[in-house]
Amino acid sequence: MPMKYDRSLSPLLRLQGVARDFYDGRQNRRVLHPTDLALFANALTILSGPSGSGKTTLLTLMALILNPSEGSVFVKERDVTSASEDARATLRLRHFGFVFQNAALIPALSVIENVLIAATIQGAAASQAVVRRAGSSLDRLGLSDFSRMKVERLSGGQKQRVAIARALITNPEILLADEPTGNLDRRSGLEILAIFKRLHRDGRTILVVTHDQAVAEHADRVIVLKEGTVAEDRNVAQPRDAEEETQALADEEKTR
Ligand SMILES: Nc1ncnc2c1ncn2[C@@H]1O[C@H](COP(=O)(O)OP(=O)(O)OP(=O)(O)O)[C@@H](O)[C@H]1O
Ligand SMILES: [Mg+2]
Repeated sequence: MPMKYDRSLSPLLRLQGVARDFYDGRQNRRVLHPTDLALFANALTILSGPSGSGKTTLLTLMALILNPSEGSVFVKERDVTSASEDARATLRLRHFGFVFQNAALIPALSVIENVLIAATIQGAAASQAVVRRAGSSLDRLGLSDFSRMKVERLSGGQKQRVAIARALITNPEILLADEPTGNLDRRSGLEILAIFKRLHRDGRTILVVTHDQAVAEHADRVIVLKEGTVAEDRNVAQPRDAEEETQALADEEKTR
């Protein structure tokens, strides 16, 4: 039974009137219109909407990767909008895990090297504890047998799982994942989703971008973006169970 999140608590992350413009070669174009949005502890939220509606833009604004053109960003109710790049990097490493659209792994490195790279960038130069944490998160994601294998030899679903393991290396409270189930078949997509559900049950706050309407019904909350505006933001009364469905699909395949 998924735990319910509480919108009356103070949010982990809050956007207030956040907008973003991009220069398209001729002029500045508003890609995200002024948006108020909060992420609460212990929620699994799905963000969907058509291609080009601003999902990646919104996610990178939330992760303090991109600066807003307008508005303010709060992490645990602290205004971090005009924090220095160093301060933002520290906040990012302390609070956020990010799974990029297309996994963004380094093909020529092994699985374990890709997972450790975030820790290395952080300056923690792969201590014993970090290597152990990487090992156990690969284990949990069913990747321990692939640890020394070059990433270029993995399947799409396996790559996505490596990207998730990498995002988890700093043990973040907030995990933001940009289309981690894109380009996967239904079964692999459900497996990835089941991983997010487990991480959510462990108490993490998760936002997942997806185009897949079936995926959306697994969440506590669904946000839909259209042309840079939040067109919908609703709670899901009874989220579907990805683990159960993965099992059912596996059983179905066995009897075929
Ligand atoms: N760095 C950039 N420079 C200029 N324009 C950009 C930049 N990043 C995004 N855009 C534009 O902003 C709009 C929204 O892009 P965004 O990547 O946020 O969409 P999306 O919803 O993630 O789409 P998709 O589902 O295809 O990933 C698009 O029109 C895109 O071309
Ligand atoms: Mg995108």
